[in-house]
Amino acid sequence: MSIRATTTVASAALIALVAVGSAFAADPIETRKKTMKAIGGSFGGVLVKMVKGEVPYDAAAAKAAATTLSQTAAGIDIATLFPAGSDKGGDTEALPKIWSDAAGFKAAMDAMKAATAAQVANSDQGVDKLKVAVAEIGKTCKSCHDGYRAQKP
Ligand code: HEC
Repeated sequence: MSIRATTTVASAALIALVAVGSAFAADPIETRKKTMKAIGGSFGGVLVKMVKGEVPYDAAAAKAAATTLSQTAAGIDIATLFPAGSDKGGDTEALPKIWSDAAGFKAAMDAMKAATAAQVANSDQGVDKLKVAVAEIGKTCKSCHDGYRAQKP
């Protein structure tokens, strides 16, 4: 292979790598924000509103939202949504502690997964039980956000 051909092949490979690299860098931030927004939609947008009486309690709708919430939470894969280095390269509130304290972050994520799964059973048993569900789930959102998310003012 001539020097020129080798250089061309090397440049093409480099361009491909850069393209793949930037696609990965931009994607997990947007994807995790969308996922968190969906979680917020089920939790804050439906369950909390029912508890506050802002929308009337409806057992079937509460169960549907709680089920969606638990499924969305269960689907979160930390390695995919929070790959190392993705505290930078986009508009993100993720704190570096997610990676420096990976075990703590995973424990916080597992706590949300467990609480959302367990509390589906409390969602369609009346508003008092839904209050318990919202409190138990809400604790797990807060404990992760307090340590691992920079809240914007
Ligand atoms: C294990 C950690 C963890 C748990 C548990 C968690 N979050 Fe988050 N959440 C984050 C992080 C980190 C961000 C910032 C993501 C970013 O900006 O890249 C975030 C961002 C958000 C956002 C803002 C999304 C946006 O539009 O930028 C909402 C809304 C949200 N979370 C709701 C919730 C709710 C509701 C719960 C509980 C049901 C919850 N989160 C549980 C870590 C967590």
